[in-house]
Amino acid sequence: MSRLVNKHIIVAVSGGIAAYKSAELVRLLKAAGAQVEVVMTHGASEFITPLTLQALSGNAVHQLLLNAKAEAGMGHIQLARWADAVLIAPASANVIAKLAQGLADDLLTTLCLATQAPILLAPAMNQAMWSNAATQCNKKQLQQRGYTVLGPANGAQACGDIGPGRMIEPTQLLEYLTQQFTGHALQGRKVVITAGPTREAIDSVRYISNHSSGKMGYALATAAYESGAKVVLISGPTSLLAPPDVHRVMVENTNQMLTASQQACVDADLFIASAAVADYRPVHVSLQKIKKSATASRLVLELEENPDILATIASQFSHLTCIGFAAETEHVIPNAQAKLACKQVAMMIANDVSDNDIGFNSDYNRVSLVTKTGVEHLETQPKRLLARLLIDRLAQL
Ligand SMILES: Cc1cc2nc3c(=O)[nH]c(=O)nc-3n(C[C@H](O)[C@H](O)[C@H](O)COP(=O)(O)O)c2cc1C
Repeated sequence: MSRLVNKHIIVAVSGGIAAYKSAELVRLLKAAGAQVEVVMTHGASEFITPLTLQALSGNAVHQLLLNAKAEAGMGHIQLARWADAVLIAPASANVIAKLAQGLADDLLTTLCLATQAPILLAPAMNQAMWSNAATQCNKKQLQQRGYTVLGPANGAQACGDIGPGRMIEPTQLLEYLTQQFTGHALQGRKVVITAGPTREAIDSVRYISNHSSGKMGYALATAAYESGAKVVLISGPTSLLAPPDVHRVMVENTNQMLTASQQACVDADLFIASAAVADYRPVHVSLQKIKKSATASRLVLELEENPDILATIASQFSHLTCIGFAAETEHVIPNAQAKLACKQVAMMIANDVSDNDIGFNSDYNRVSLVTKTGVEHLETQPKRLLARLLIDRLAQL
């Protein structure tokens, strides 16, 4: 399965002859399973109609920055946050110059300043424009800032010149983009990740659970896979789709999650406990639905403690690097530090789930990395991006 499945890709098209190739690029991206939003400069729409790119991407094309209607929909900041990658193809000499200067006078350039996603650009222009010292200097600056410059290719140009300046072919761009989601930090490693909530049955129809969506754990599974790892995702009940090429084991309750984790960890290198497990379960599970009593206005449930999955795995598998999540509503850091010490793990990732903007169901998270040597606070960011950052950090462990 393509690594681009469900990836959020912005194809940004600027004003050059090669804009016609962006139609094929969008088509290939869609065929590879990516979600595509197209941004066009005013210049681009002189070369290819937005209607073509709208039809191919399945989404209205974004063209305007200073427009109330556009901002009320998916505005520039939303687009910037949505993106897993921005591919500017073709990138005109003008766009390259504006980006090098940090200008933000249209949607494309503003979006590039606002996004945390990687930006790739495929320059396309007349060979003399490309070789011009100004363009070369701008390109260099962008590369130094982390932009990836793809091409241009050498050859015959639309203007009749021969030389460097042709946009590289859409099939090749697709390959480069795919590589963007193909890391090696965990190459050859096996990673086991728990995600989502667990459910503890009260009777045949009711259960105790929590609001965990599983989004963080699923994002970690994707990021670990993209870093080259073999990934087993042990998931409690959630409506999320299994990430491509990740082996998912669905479980219901905490004991089942522990058993599945023990089985998967035998030959694993890294265990990440991101599931929000039920700490207690009912002592007695009624096989029939508990009926409302005609006489008693109270029902008392007796609960017993569930096993601590993270602590158990850490104590049973000494070869494993174990990482836990500490979802707290108060005293977040001290509580995470206490868990770090008593569970004997390499790192606790602490977050404040009382904050609705970053809590259980949100697409965003803000965490602190708690280790024996200190605490590092990370910025609020989309769980997808945070997952990649965390996997890179954990790979260093
Ligand atoms: C027929 C024609 C073809 C052009 N082709 C290119 C091109 O391939 N690459 C480029 O950088 N500029 C090209 N330009 C110039 C750009 O369209 C111009 O610099 C424009 O301001 C770019 O706007 P944008 O970068 O906002 O899209 C071309 C202009 C014309 C009239």
